[in-house]
Amino acid sequence: MKYFVANWKMHKTCAEALDFLEYFKNISLSKEEYVIIAPPFTLLWPLSKSLQDSKIKLSAQNMYCEDKGAFTGEISPIQLKDCNVDYVIIGHSERRNIFHEDNELISKKLKKAFEYNITPIFCVGETLEQRQKGLTFDTISNQLSAGLAKLSEDEISKIIIAYEPVWAIGTGVNATPEQAEEVHLFINSFIQKNYFKNKNSDVKILYGGSVTPSNIKDLMNISKIDGVLVGGASLQQESFLKIVKYKGEDK
Ligand code: PGA
Repeated sequence: MKYFVANWKMHKTCAEALDFLEYFKNISLSKEEYVIIAPPFTLLWPLSKSLQDSKIKLSAQNMYCEDKGAFTGEISPIQLKDCNVDYVIIGHSERRNIFHEDNELISKKLKKAFEYNITPIFCVGETLEQRQKGLTFDTISNQLSAGLAKLSEDEISKIIIAYEPVWAIGTGVNATPEQAEEVHLFINSFIQKNYFKNKNSDVKILYGGSVTPSNIKDLMNISKIDGVLVGGASLQQESFLKIVKYKGEDK
């Protein structure tokens, strides 16, 4: 299974998004390929209409951890379901750093998403300072243990983890395939060791951080990678298509 997730962040009007999909929604995908678009909240409903007969799936970029209530400015899983959303990005570093989301809140959101059958794309990753101090694995294991704390074994087997080194997001400096592979293997064995003692896990791990048409091939060649989470390069149809079709087949 290969996942190609477009994180549009705070970009695109409704007309721009519909135009993007007009061109994109009929691309041929094998059973193994998943293309998921994560637009701003205001576009979820119109895009869900436009994608009705398409294989492309929708993700939200965030979600609150309650069903409903007095939470001005927040979005609930019920409202996401109402827009045919199947995935939600949780714990993106921009949510952690700019909006001060902590591990406790992230863990509640992950639990709540599963309650509504929405698959979370759970982001983890170290800052440049943490990497330079040799704290990459400590940081990631802390984020994983705190985030996964409330989940059952079954839920953990369904989650999608996105390794997104903070220093690579939006900077044009991607992790090298070796750096990404080292962390992906670490995440895989951390989860196997701590949550699946008696059976083999196949947790899905995506890489995110300055993915482009020129580095996608090398990144997708590392061991234990199940796809990519793409920000900047997902905003143009042409570059995102090159990423999805990185193998070059015309299927
Ligand atoms: P980028 O963003 O591809 O622009 O680095 C990735 C992300 O933030 O998910």
